[in-house]
Amino acid sequence: MKFIVYCFSGTGNTRWACEALVKELAAAGQEAELYAISAGDPPPSPQGFDGVLVGYPVHAFNAPAPVLQFLKTLPVSQKRLPVWLVRTSGEPLGLNEASGITPKRILKKKGYEVRGEFHYVMPYNIIFRHSDGMAARMKGDAARAIPRDAALIAAGKGALCKNGPFRRMVSFTLRVEHSAMPMIGRRFKATEKCVGCGKCASVCPQGNIKMVDGKPVFGKNCAACMACSFLCPQDAVKISLLNGWRVNGAYTFEGVPAADEEVCRYCRKSYLRYFRKMEER
Ligand SMILES: Cc1cc2nc3c(=O)[nH]c(=O)nc-3n(C[C@H](O)[C@H](O)[C@H](O)COP(=O)(O)O)c2cc1C
Ligand code: SF4
Ligand code: SF4
Repeated sequence: MKFIVYCFSGTGNTRWACEALVKELAAAGQEAELYAISAGDPPPSPQGFDGVLVGYPVHAFNAPAPVLQFLKTLPVSQKRLPVWLVRTSGEPLGLNEASGITPKRILKKKGYEVRGEFHYVMPYNIIFRHSDGMAARMKGDAARAIPRDAALIAAGKGALCKNGPFRRMVSFTLRVEHSAMPMIGRRFKATEKCVGCGKCASVCPQGNIKMVDGKPVFGKNCAACMACSFLCPQDAVKISLLNGWRVNGAYTFEGVPAADEEVCRYCRKSYLRYFRKMEER
């Protein structure tokens, strides 16, 4: 089988998961090609492929706006091409599963058959910074699950999440993020710590940052991915109204995985439940 993988990722967590799935599919004798969903050249159409994977980070219990926009550009599938959703999120909340509602609706309308949803909890790139131990445990658990998930995909299998009225209502309400971010993102600013290296502009998947006189200028296409502020080597990007939640600096994932008693106190029960589920699989 030949798979095409479309992936939107701001700070690399989702890209890592999609790359790992591609590697495992290849190890299982399948072909898989990965393309970024970004403002650059559009990726190839899924025609000629036997299956499609769509990777995205959960943003406010939804798929990011560029992912929904991209799905709307897909051609109609005459042969019910199977699709698997692959997502990452900072927390193991059931509400994150609601982020699949709109992608599934768009894909169904276009004749695709969503066969499965895979979800990996990865460290937050906004709100707060997870400890190195938490980051290592999350990535380790996802890395162990990915070969099994790739085998399910290769066998054409998977399971779908069920979302009741409460999840639908919360997810629908918070989709306001999609219209708010272009306005909030325009007010992002580089502080005097900026050294004009241009990294923020080069990592922005939306092509939303132009370097003008050696400083970044933010346009109106921000999708809140946080790549600019998270990856700035000087921690110089202020993210307007969201600045109190800014997290800066890539995780190394090199720490010793957090033991149960070291699991962060915020939402401890749900992280422990998630880790147990992943580690018992
Ligand atoms: C604007 C924004 C909103 C987010 N909303 C959620 C959320 O609703 N639930 C959650 O668990 N994580 C949320 N996250 C965390 C990301 O989903 C998580 O860190 C993800 O792994 C980032 O993936 P990436 O590195 O591929 O961009 C949010 C992150 C951002 C930037
Ligand atoms: S990445 Fe940071 S230091 Fe580099 S240009 Fe952007 S804001 Fe300035
Ligand atoms: S401006 Fe920053 S947060 Fe907005 S899309 Fe670009 S990199 Fe992501």
